[in-house]
Amino acid sequence: MLAPPVRCLLDTPGLILWLTGAGVSAESGIPTFRGKEGYWQVGSRNYQPEEMATWAAFQEMPEEVWAWYLYRRGICRGAEPNAAHRALAAAERRRGERFLLVTQNVDGLHLRAGNTLDRTYQIHGNIDFMRCSRECLPAPVPMPEGVDVAWGKGRPITERELQALKCPSCGALARPHVLWFDESYDEANFRFESSIDAAQRASLVVVVGTTGATSLPMHIGTIAAQRGIPMVVINPEPNPFSALVQRTGQGAFLCGTAGQWVPEIVDALPSA
Ligand code: APR
Repeated sequence: MLAPPVRCLLDTPGLILWLTGAGVSAESGIPTFRGKEGYWQVGSRNYQPEEMATWAAFQEMPEEVWAWYLYRRGICRGAEPNAAHRALAAAERRRGERFLLVTQNVDGLHLRAGNTLDRTYQIHGNIDFMRCSRECLPAPVPMPEGVDVAWGKGRPITERELQALKCPSCGALARPHVLWFDESYDEANFRFESSIDAAQRASLVVVVGTTGATSLPMHIGTIAAQRGIPMVVINPEPNPFSALVQRTGQGAFLCGTAGQWVPEIVDALPSA
């Protein structure tokens, strides 16, 4: 049950900026990033996600990196949007221009739930898209049909599938449209400036399911704190965003899951 002070925070005519992390997809069965997500075995060696999700690993072992992403893509495509995703799609329908969603998730579940690409900034990319490894294409392209979606863990990639993963324009090997740990945010692929601009304009920020381990989300939280606007933070455990709320006294920390709180918050939003 939302306490009256939280209800008051939601009663704003301005832009509500939602910021989501892997926790919003946990109840869809997608392992969170720093949760107990499995390592990836290459030969006799086990690699952590932080080692595989890099341009350096792609240059060293492109087929292994592709096989890992195709495996993770299979998990994402096998998952369904949950109540929190559906509630966020309803929130966009209800608030239109006064709704913006910045997501760290590459699983595509917000768009599958009904949020629009116009108002959803996928700041770490989307696993269902790929880009030319020579960056010769103007924008990411959808993954080709000829690549299996259900991918067994450890399954190697075939020559036919590798051919399907070539840039349709220059023929170079494509790469997943995902921001890697040794790469930087930008506007064209990851809506960097647009996300900062949204944080400067928002009247409320709602943060759902993230450890705050990456720079752009934390930058959004810091801007909100510096501007003195409230944040509503939803997470099963405290995180740097709940610590900001505690320090500034602006907002609320709702300890719990996305499925528990997001639908209730959206229901409490004033209609358009
Ligand atoms: N509902 C809400 N939050 C949840 C749930 C749930 N059901 N289950 C777990 N969480 C929380 C965890 O407590 C944790 O704070 O979700 C958060 C998941 O944190 P991470 O696994 O670190 O994922 P995230 O914060 O999104 O990672 C950020 O880091 O490695 C990069 O690109 C990668 O997008 C990823 C980014």
